[in-house]
Amino acid sequence: MLQTLLAQVREFKKPSLITPVFVILEVIMEIIIPYLMASIIDSGVNQGSIQNVCLIGLCMLAAAMLSLIFGVLAGKYAARASTGFSRNLRKAMFDNIQNYSFSNIDKFSTAGLVTRLTTDVTNVQNAYQMILRLCIRAPFMLICAMFMASRISLSLSGIFWGAILFLGIALFLITSHVHPLFMKVFQKYDDLNSSVQENVGAIRVVKAYVREDYEVNKFKKASGNIYSMFIKAERLLVFNTPLMQFAMYACILLISWLGAQMIVSDSLTTGQLMSLFTYVMNILMSLMMISMIFVMITMAKASAERIAEVIDEQPDILNPACAVREVKDGAVEFDHVNFKYKADGENNVLEDICLTIRSGETVGIIGGTGSAKSTLVQLIPRLYDVKEGSVRVGGVDVREYDLETLRDEVAMVLQKNVLFSGTIEENLRWGKKNATREELERACRLAQADEFIRALPEGYKTYIEQGGTNVSGGQKQRLCIARALLKKPRILILDDSTSAVDTRTDALIRKAFREEIPDTTKIIIAQRISSVQDADKIIVLNEGRVENIGTHEELLKSSPIYRDVYESQTTKSQSTEEGGVVRE
Ligand SMILES: Nc1ncnc2c1ncn2[C@@H]1O[C@H](COP(=O)(O)OP(=O)(O)OP(=O)(O)O)[C@@H](O)[C@H]1O
Ligand SMILES: [Mg+2]
Repeated sequence: MLQTLLAQVREFKKPSLITPVFVILEVIMEIIIPYLMASIIDSGVNQGSIQNVCLIGLCMLAAAMLSLIFGVLAGKYAARASTGFSRNLRKAMFDNIQNYSFSNIDKFSTAGLVTRLTTDVTNVQNAYQMILRLCIRAPFMLICAMFMASRISLSLSGIFWGAILFLGIALFLITSHVHPLFMKVFQKYDDLNSSVQENVGAIRVVKAYVREDYEVNKFKKASGNIYSMFIKAERLLVFNTPLMQFAMYACILLISWLGAQMIVSDSLTTGQLMSLFTYVMNILMSLMMISMIFVMITMAKASAERIAEVIDEQPDILNPACAVREVKDGAVEFDHVNFKYKADGENNVLEDICLTIRSGETVGIIGGTGSAKSTLVQLIPRLYDVKEGSVRVGGVDVREYDLETLRDEVAMVLQKNVLFSGTIEENLRWGKKNATREELERACRLAQADEFIRALPEGYKTYIEQGGTNVSGGQKQRLCIARALLKKPRILILDDSTSAVDTRTDALIRKAFREEIPDTTKIIIAQRISSVQDADKIIVLNEGRVENIGTHEELLKSSPIYRDVYESQTTKSQSTEEGGVVRE
């Protein structure tokens, strides 16, 4: 994990290495100051030498100035290194997510990915900054201050050892109790984020079902959990300061008492005693920092692991080495295809599928919900890879194609289609970046979208809100079809893409397809028989198997499932709802 993360430091190696150098210089200056203070008292004040006072005073001033400058520089480089590091982390995660196949995406929740890209990266960034500055500073300061203190008086420095031992044990006890609490806090954060994301994303559904109170309670519980866990952790952490102060004042008292006796017996000077006091502070502060680092690192570790998971996830659909860059025609073949979503899943979602679709044919797919219609068509543009058997497009196995070529030629309107925030024109251009106005309009005419777009006050420049909330369901579907058509694909797949379009418009779309793009293979998944009945052939799927293939008339005779669906839709006034397809 560490390797994965550190690889992302990249161009920020230099500031990452410079920071500790400045930190060391800063510490050296801070250590010199008490030493100089001792000599200003001993060889200046006590001896009445104003010259010495001035000279050493100037040295102290210089040391203080240098310490300040080094401190500022260390801070600057640490900030540059840590923010750069977090930028690289985010970029690496985002880039890798873009390469994920559908099955990679299935492994992570959206809320989880968002938390990883935001909160987790911020945690790691803060920890990295702290590590660069404090990880060197605290131990170095501790060692230097101990060294200097024992040089002044070996016997008095024994007091420090006592304090270190006392504080070390106390801090260890505190952090070891706090750590598991923080680990739990992070898990709870995920719950909170997913609750917020789900609620905000589906706020309309929440309102429609008047579930506000339920959602508010859910949120209250999630944030209450974090609150109480933090309180528990902080309740332990607050002991840090009093313990530290106790140790500090105990040291000062002991040193004053023993030191005074030593001064009387002439084995210690006043100046030395003064500098010992400063070293007490330095030593105990370093200990405090070490305990903070410990807490911070344990907190960041959980985040770091979550980030590394995203970066290390290997996209399982990759471009082949010698990719085929041309799709000959729109023929599709399924050759004994078996498929399941999870490798360790028990049953196949698709079982022994054999199909042949000729280029230019119109094929309808009918089947109950969960009969694996979407799963079947997702194999054609290689959104998922088959587990056994093969899928061929234009006579070539889809795994041999360059992915971009394949997906340009196989345009698919997903069942859960989305529009992005931006104008209608910008959304359509996802299909073809540099499409001319004529091309845009033609695609929209084919998808029966042109008319309603023109009726909008701003036409093609109308702004679509995030998620396409300001267009109707049917309008959104037509825009998505137009977007796919702009690719001028050899194969066009519509996954339940006209479910929200009225039957007349649906018929017009099919007519336009028949007349205007006769050479394109059209695969249409539908719940309504009327959407597929004039297709060249209709595939009836049942629980992941092909139950029957034929034309409308043939299937009415040979397929009981198809006949059932047909009858339920003709006798019950053309239902369009989900239950329109009856499962066996
Ligand atoms: N991403 C996924 N991960 C795991 N299982 C999935 C995934 N997508 C679908 N499934 C499962 O695969 C089966 C087939 O789903 P699929 O979406 O292909 O059905 P469908 O025929 O398109 O249904 P609908 O008519 O409701 O769209 C279902 O049992 C479903 O639970
Ligand atoms: Mg589906």
